[in-house]
Amino acid sequence: MTENAVTRSYEIYERAGELIPGRTQLISRRASRFANGISPVYAQSAKGSRFIDVDETEYIDWMSGVEAIILGHADDVVDRAVEKQIRRGSLYSLNSPLEIELAELLVDTIPSAEMVRYTKGGGEACAVAARIARGTTGRDKIIFCGYHGWHDWYQAANYEADPVSGEFPFAGIEPIGVPKVLAGTVIPFPYGDLDALRLLLDEHAGEVAAVMMEPLRSTLPEPGYLESVKELAHAHDTILIFDEVSCGWRLSVGGVQEYLGITPDMTVLAKAMSNGYPMGAVVGSRAVMEPASRMFVSSSYWSDNVGLAAAITTIRELKRRNSAAFFLETGEKLRRALNDSIAGAGLSGEFTGLHTHPNLTLSLPDETLLPKVNTLFIQEMARRGIHCPMGFSINMAHSVEDIRQTAEAASESFSVIRSGLESGDLDSLLLCDLKQDPFRRLVR
Ligand SMILES: Cc1ncc(COP(=O)(O)O)c(C=O)c1O
Repeated sequence: MTENAVTRSYEIYERAGELIPGRTQLISRRASRFANGISPVYAQSAKGSRFIDVDETEYIDWMSGVEAIILGHADDVVDRAVEKQIRRGSLYSLNSPLEIELAELLVDTIPSAEMVRYTKGGGEACAVAARIARGTTGRDKIIFCGYHGWHDWYQAANYEADPVSGEFPFAGIEPIGVPKVLAGTVIPFPYGDLDALRLLLDEHAGEVAAVMMEPLRSTLPEPGYLESVKELAHAHDTILIFDEVSCGWRLSVGGVQEYLGITPDMTVLAKAMSNGYPMGAVVGSRAVMEPASRMFVSSSYWSDNVGLAAAITTIRELKRRNSAAFFLETGEKLRRALNDSIAGAGLSGEFTGLHTHPNLTLSLPDETLLPKVNTLFIQEMARRGIHCPMGFSINMAHSVEDIRQTAEAASESFSVIRSGLESGDLDSLLLCDLKQDPFRRLVR
């Protein structure tokens, strides 16, 4: 095995420590989320299923731009549409007719969409959805399940530490800088627990503007669960919002709501809708969305032509390339190959969850070994040119050859893990600190 150098990455990371608080713009891109010191941190280019880091090494990328890349990095068709648009101007003084073209496409594509507003990011779109829900109902409280971004309306939930465990709804995040007066305005509910949701809605009857949730993340909900959530929400005259920023697009171009046949009142979209160009949207029924015309929901870059052109082209390409079938076939192929790697190395476990996002679940003699084993997996994969977290995010540029190379690297990595488990000395195999867990999302 040739060792990949990451010297340049960590020189830049060191410099970032002096210039950028927290070093990265997204917490999930911090080196501490991977094998710190071994995983690459900075890329210089990306194409298809791979990127080249600043130390000139090519990696197969199973992060897919934190799921924003759905067709593949630097997709030729999307990039041609973007280049054409850039030559015509990226931002006009007037409005762009592309706003209407994309709105028509979204209304045709997303089952619950009748009206549309835009943003640039996912968290921003969640904040717009919260504003519209509050404005439309005249109520202040929001009950939620999942991750919905960095804005105050949502991070205020972390003032509600669990009195028993003392844990915040999102382990690892404190609401520093979030106005304390917002405490109690946003309340988490556990995924799958209808009684808990019912109790919360009863307790706050007449005050809840919206139930906002990720309709799923890694597994399908119990049959009828989302329908019951909708019934409960509507019984309390509360708006049901699906946050499909991460789960949408890969299962079906019409989102989870099309895949499962259950429509919310409002939907938040971002990330994969534009293959890596900044774009977000809030779509919903006319009744819920129309009152937004009287609310202050306004920003200069929401008319940016680049994101609009990228989204229009991405959505058309997903349909033309029959994306849902690709993700099913490729996800299951990847899962089978990686499961064979686990078994071949003599470990027990499997890649669980939906085909869009297979997730490593090893059975260990002692669960407390998990942080070491997870870090060792990421470390050994990185040393073999594979950039992955514990869950693999697929894009349409991933090929059979990518899967073959990934499974080969996984076989070797699992063998290293097995030798560490057998010797009882995982520590001597770890070349880095333990990776930090991602924040908890309250949704499966
Ligand atoms: C479900 C969900 N909502 C909102 C967001 C926030 O999106 P952004 O990072 O674009 O602000 C994310 C990002 O991971 C997400 O997964």
